[in-house]
Amino acid sequence: MEDVESIVARALAEFSRAADPAALENAKARYLGRSGEVTALLKGLGALAPGERRGAGARVNAAKEQLERALEQRRGELAGARLAARLAEEALDVTLPGRGRGRGGVHPVIRTWQRVERIFRSIGFDVADGPEIETDWHNFTALNQPENHPARSMHDTFYVELKDAAGTPLVLRTHTSPMQVRYARMHEPPIKAIAPGRTYRVDSDATHSPMFHQVEGLWIDEHISFADLKGVYTDFLRRFFETDRLQVRFRPSFFPFTEPSAEIDMRFESGPLEGKWLEISGAGQVHPNVVRNFGFDPERHIGFAFGSGLERLTMLRYGIDDLRLFFDGDLRFLGQFA
Ligand code: PHE
Repeated sequence: MEDVESIVARALAEFSRAADPAALENAKARYLGRSGEVTALLKGLGALAPGERRGAGARVNAAKEQLERALEQRRGELAGARLAARLAEEALDVTLPGRGRGRGGVHPVIRTWQRVERIFRSIGFDVADGPEIETDWHNFTALNQPENHPARSMHDTFYVELKDAAGTPLVLRTHTSPMQVRYARMHEPPIKAIAPGRTYRVDSDATHSPMFHQVEGLWIDEHISFADLKGVYTDFLRRFFETDRLQVRFRPSFFPFTEPSAEIDMRFESGPLEGKWLEISGAGQVHPNVVRNFGFDPERHIGFAFGSGLERLTMLRYGIDDLRLFFDGDLRFLGQFA
């Protein structure tokens, strides 16, 4: 029979060769398990002569204890190695600069949009929203815009292939004024609403973009005059720019859907733009034909409308001189408003 020492030597060698806990436990079973070699030696003690039993018993038990210690130690080593491997694998270089989490912000034009809504809501105006793909009738015809008006040409307006019920191509609305018609046809006077939104024209340079934003205003009742327009609009500008130190003037102009029509200009009395007249909005008394298209009687109902560019208001408020900055998506620009 192989002597105890050589069994122990073999076991120790296997234990230290075991590369993972499963291999180690298998090795343990081969020596210390129920039918392991050391266990067999223990069982065999009973068969020995009483004189030999004591010495053999002591040797086998010592071997068993030695192997158990070696086993514990190897278990510890394997667990340590496993932890070390895991730590190495999951190592983080805490000295690298963090990526940070970008903070989003509201786009400056949308800020203006929200600001305009707040101001007009506070003086009793409803806020309306409508389609950007518009019928020719709402965008032009109902607004008294004749067939030969240049805005109707392909050069100025984006037509789409879809057609309305009459077979006329739909257009990307060229202004928010069709919302006057939509809103008025769904409500009864007194009507007091603004309609901010996106508008589209074939136009592109430092102060024009093919897509831009306007806010339409409409107030119709029985006695609404230019004085009301002037009061409302001046109050709006003073609140929008947070200063009373600005002047407003009305310059005669022409729009097919208003009569009389005016350009609204403003002038700051202080600040970097001081003293310069700036065109800020189109406006006018709603034309009787348009009031009729609203479904009202122009002998009874009268009022004003205006349409202002949200980009323009934003540029004046923040001192921005190139409108294209709004649409480039450059975070160095946009981040200044976050
Ligand atoms: N719709 C006109 C434009 O886009 C602005 C306007 C609106 C003028 C309402 C008068 C009344 O230029």
